[in-house]
Amino acid sequence: MDFLTLCQQRYSERRYSDKPVSQADLDYILACAQLAPSAVNKQPWHFYVVQGESLQKVAPIYRRETFKEAPMCLVITGNHAESWHRYDGKDHCDIDIAIVTEHIVLAAAERGINTCWVCNFDVDACKNWLQLPENEEPMVLIPMGYASAEGGATVKKRKELAQLVTYLP
Ligand SMILES: Cc1cc2nc3c(=O)[nH]c(=O)nc-3n(C[C@H](O)[C@H](O)[C@H](O)COP(=O)(O)O)c2cc1C
Repeated sequence: MDFLTLCQQRYSERRYSDKPVSQADLDYILACAQLAPSAVNKQPWHFYVVQGESLQKVAPIYRRETFKEAPMCLVITGNHAESWHRYDGKDHCDIDIAIVTEHIVLAAAERGINTCWVCNFDVDACKNWLQLPENEEPMVLIPMGYASAEGGATVKKRKELAQLVTYLP
């Protein structure tokens, strides 16, 4: 599959069947995450794999059908004490976490596994659940699995390239 086709095929799935994600697929996805670039190569991320009984803990953190159904979820955290801070103080943690998360969702899509970026969750409840230290922020939840009959790809709505690109003379 070429990269454009992969980008077209990935979409945000919010309804999942109970079909499990294999350990081999998860290993592949995590290997792709491990290779993500980061500012000054700080790799300020951690991945919590949520499956089995612990899935019950994630459901109240994001109260949608998604987490009642998905057989697996990743909690991706960023450590602000590890991330690179530029001379002007800008913390690059968010950028690094966005890159590694996109590696994860694209690697999953390549393996035919559905995902959804989720940032609109209860961050404090998640921190309490995982007993995270002050500097470690839960940034993204990624449900993983296979679309149920209620799910499936929707038509991509995107701005036109002409609105997004300026060619400078
Ligand atoms: C940073 C970020 C945060 C997001 N948070 C949520 C979320 O909390 N809940 C949700 O249902 N979708 C979330 N999404 C998914 C977007 O709604 C989705 O990517 C967008 O509508 C484009 O649709 P597509 O992913 O199917 O192409 C998020 C996406 C990104 C990149």
